[in-house]
Amino acid sequence: MQIQIGLLGCGTVGAGVVSLVRRRADRVADMTGLRPVVKTILVRDTQKDRGVSFIDEQLTTSPEDILADDDIQIVVETIGGIEPAKTYILEALSRGKHVVTANKDLIALHGPEILQTAAANGVSVLFEAAVGGAIPLVGPLKENLTANEVTDLKGIINGTTNFILTQMTTRHIDFAEALQMAQDLGYAEADPSSDVDGLDAARKLVILASIAFHTEVHLSDVRVEGIRHITATDVRYADEAGYVIKLLAVGRDRDGELTLAVRPTLIPKNHPLAHVSDAYNALFVRGDAAGDLMFFGRGAGRMPTASAVVGDIIALVRNLKLGFVASSPNGSAGERKPVVEREDDVYKYYFRLTAADQPGVFAQVAHLFGEYRASMETVLQKRVEGDRAEIVIVTHDISSRLAREIAVHLSRSPQLAVEAVMPVEPVAE
Ligand SMILES: NC(=O)c1ccc[n+]([C@@H]2O[C@H](COP(=O)([O-])OP(=O)(O)OC[C@H]3O[C@@H](n4cnc5c(N)ncnc54)[C@H](OP(=O)(O)O)[C@@H]3O)[C@@H](O)[C@H]2O)c1
Repeated sequence: MQIQIGLLGCGTVGAGVVSLVRRRADRVADMTGLRPVVKTILVRDTQKDRGVSFIDEQLTTSPEDILADDDIQIVVETIGGIEPAKTYILEALSRGKHVVTANKDLIALHGPEILQTAAANGVSVLFEAAVGGAIPLVGPLKENLTANEVTDLKGIINGTTNFILTQMTTRHIDFAEALQMAQDLGYAEADPSSDVDGLDAARKLVILASIAFHTEVHLSDVRVEGIRHITATDVRYADEAGYVIKLLAVGRDRDGELTLAVRPTLIPKNHPLAHVSDAYNALFVRGDAAGDLMFFGRGAGRMPTASAVVGDIIALVRNLKLGFVASSPNGSAGERKPVVEREDDVYKYYFRLTAADQPGVFAQVAHLFGEYRASMETVLQKRVEGDRAEIVIVTHDISSRLAREIAVHLSRSPQLAVEAVMPVEPVAE
């Protein structure tokens, strides 16, 4: 017997799904007696070359050909964005179809509504591909680690910014040049804001945190800082001090209070996350029983993402065989946990300042750090151009509040400009 699939969108990911479903159909049929078959595919342009041959599947520009087809039990959404994907998914769910989606934007922003609609209609929504591409993250957090209290999530979950920062580090180029490379290679979109301003990573963190911490998480709960202001100079100084700069997504649950942030962070070169390069992703998870785990792999791309989508399709086919509906990875079962700034958390901090190259300016900086009882681990002082000097300081552990107060105080001085302040990740235990 066949399980008919309707595919919404057939671009990078959708075309991979078509070919991977074909490749695995025999195995799934052997395992379950049910053969997954993509029956109908919604696109905008039916004449476009998609790098995949269409044998029996029907290409259509009418969503009703999928949504109103009673033979289609599984709808796979790979259109992306909010609309019309959201309307199609809600419609499919209310017509009793299971849904698989790779759409992180939609799940991060409208996950609760979509999951409630699925539950109300007795169907599932699975979205493993929405975070981390090929890397299994949603499934392990929801299933395999469910016996744990997860306290920490920490990861590199945006491949575009990781590619840009890797190029800046290895080729000693500035942000604009590295971004252009990423765009030329198809890693970054023409409008790269969602990636480089940290929003994409924040959306993925919303999804992961809601599942790991069993609560509803909103995008506004995440403090977000992107990488546009990171300069080749920061990358070089970080390197000289023994660090690499990464855009780190961090989620913590401390006694039911959450802290959620996406921000550029200095990572010690001997830390495993320092070696996650180019478009790779990695996520650290700490559970009270499991201890520390690290997930690593390809965070995007046609077949890696299709791997996660088709994994979800096969899970649904198995469930259909067994006759049960898997609960969707819904984190919002309990009360909404409060989100706090935790300004008392301590880190080492990296400061880069430019200063008038005059006698006494460095002493003034050192005095100010002393006043705040912030001791310095590393100090680099360089002359840049003309009468400007650059001062780089990596402190010993200080609270986030103190780092902010020092930055504000320094920037009041007419002779100084605070160019960058970033936390430093501790050496892995
Ligand atoms: N690309 C990745 O590596 C990756 C990784 C993880 C997750 N994702 C997620 O996967 C989803 C798809 O990404 P993608 O890179 O495959 O996108 P894509 O290459 O732009 O493909 C989008 C597809 O949707 C179709 N489409 C767009 N608007 C439509 C509309 N209004 N009606 C009908 N069809 C429409 C397009 O049709 P036409 O081809 O006819 O224009 C195209 O086939 C997104 O949610 C993305 O965030 C992607």
